[in-house]
Amino acid sequence: MKIIAHRGASGYAPENTIKAFRLAVEMGARDFEFDVHRTRDGILVVHHDFDLKRTAGRGVKIADLDYAELKKLNVAAHFKQDKAAQQIPRLDEVIDVIGPAAEWLNFEVKNEGNAYPGIEEALLAFLESRPGLFEKAVVSSFDHPTLKRFRELSPLLKVAYLGHNLNTLLLRTALRKAAAIKAVNFHLPLRLAFKMNVSRIKSAGFKVCVYTVNEKKDALRLATIGVDGIFTNFPDILGKWTLKG
Ligand code: G3P
Ligand code: MG
Repeated sequence: MKIIAHRGASGYAPENTIKAFRLAVEMGARDFEFDVHRTRDGILVVHHDFDLKRTAGRGVKIADLDYAELKKLNVAAHFKQDKAAQQIPRLDEVIDVIGPAAEWLNFEVKNEGNAYPGIEEALLAFLESRPGLFEKAVVSSFDHPTLKRFRELSPLLKVAYLGHNLNTLLLRTALRKAAAIKAVNFHLPLRLAFKMNVSRIKSAGFKVCVYTVNEKKDALRLATIGVDGIFTNFPDILGKWTLKG
């Protein structure tokens, strides 16, 4: 079972910052998840929300600022254990840090309502700009039209279905949608990660990764029902990296 550093080692350092990614690498992580946005001047950056209200206490949207302005804000302001200033990193800076250690990289593209028109082409160009990066990449998005565009642009790209407001009743439709875009993975919220759902998804031919798993007892249960990976803010959740493979 993959232990995927969710937004870096975000239980120990401010999420989606270079500090959190460096720490995840130091902790031995090989699998990583992070969220991708784009600035007004076209720079791909890593941050969870569309604006900086929660992280930096400033209600400015990433799409409305150039990167030079954005990087002046402290996105660690929200993190009680360590508020030392951290900037929003560019995507290429994050890959510089985690790329050499990484086996598997989940680029979660935040693009509801096509907030960043053309982000699909920009990310694909980035993935193809570095040797071996495309092969390690899995792209996911809660925005299904975004995933469809990725698939149309690139038949070989690995894509993960990420269902918005999913429930067990909607699973059949979700599996159909995931198959239609030839997804390889299905990323499932913890609240739905029960044996029956996991078995249905696996029988449909997808690998299942579950988010966000921050309790060891959940991680151990998921390992026993055939889950392929867990997204966790604590890359040392199992103490040792014994369940990889
Ligand atoms: O990609 C898995 C998980 O990160 C999806 O939810 O809101 O944490 O980006 P969120
Ligand atoms: Mg995410």
